[in-house]
Amino acid sequence: MRKKVIAGNWKMNMLPNETIKFIDDFAPLVKDSEAEIILCVPYVDLFYALLNTQETNIKIGAQNMHYEEKGAYTGEISGRMLKSVGVEYVIIGHSERRQYFGETDEIVNKKLKAAFEHGLKPIVCVGENLEQREKGIAEDVITKQTELALEGLSKDEVKDTIIAYEPIWAIGTGKTATSEDANNAIKAIRNKVAKLYGKAVAEEVIILYGGSVKSSNAAELFSTSDIDGGLVGGASLKPEEFAKIVNYDKQ
Ligand code: 13P
Repeated sequence: MRKKVIAGNWKMNMLPNETIKFIDDFAPLVKDSEAEIILCVPYVDLFYALLNTQETNIKIGAQNMHYEEKGAYTGEISGRMLKSVGVEYVIIGHSERRQYFGETDEIVNKKLKAAFEHGLKPIVCVGENLEQREKGIAEDVITKQTELALEGLSKDEVKDTIIAYEPIWAIGTGKTATSEDANNAIKAIRNKVAKLYGKAVAEEVIILYGGSVKSSNAAELFSTSDIDGGLVGGASLKPEEFAKIVNYDKQ
């Protein structure tokens, strides 16, 4: 049985004082959850988030990292830096980074390898845009992105990678993929992993759905055969709403 993972991606939201308040309100609401709960916060909030989640079941992640360990890369943060402050997870290749910051599949692959080198657990994002979906090539796009992201990783590393399927047309739009569509897309990704790394790895790899997940659709999405949880944007900014998503199985 794969563990459920519910991760919040705060994107470019929340100040340190808001982070502290969020965790104070959120932690008691999710303390009995058996899911892996992760908050991926902006860099400047990491320290406060790590400090305030010490006695809780909440894990902290970053939203990006550079693939080099150190050097003349003004404004960048390396995996080694993240690890040094106690960060456990890192989102890699979010569609917003691919779209607005020119991240290619090759860069995503380099970052994934660097994350493992520094002992971070990556959450790598794949997803088709609306045009690709309408052309009927969504499955090809997401399985190819998966293949290129994972290229050169060992079987153990692939097993420890969290993949997030986030159809771009569903991000921040209020449009959610139907649970059946999302589950089928995730099955296609799992089949690709099976083809490349074997069935045992594919059965263990955790694959999340992201794109307008909220408390009203979480239970339906997360109860399907292949969706192992969610990567949640907007709905992870409110403690009560995000707690309802984490506690989707307790309502
Ligand atoms: P929303 O939940 O706001 O649609 O964002 C999804 C997402 O991009 C999470 O990484």
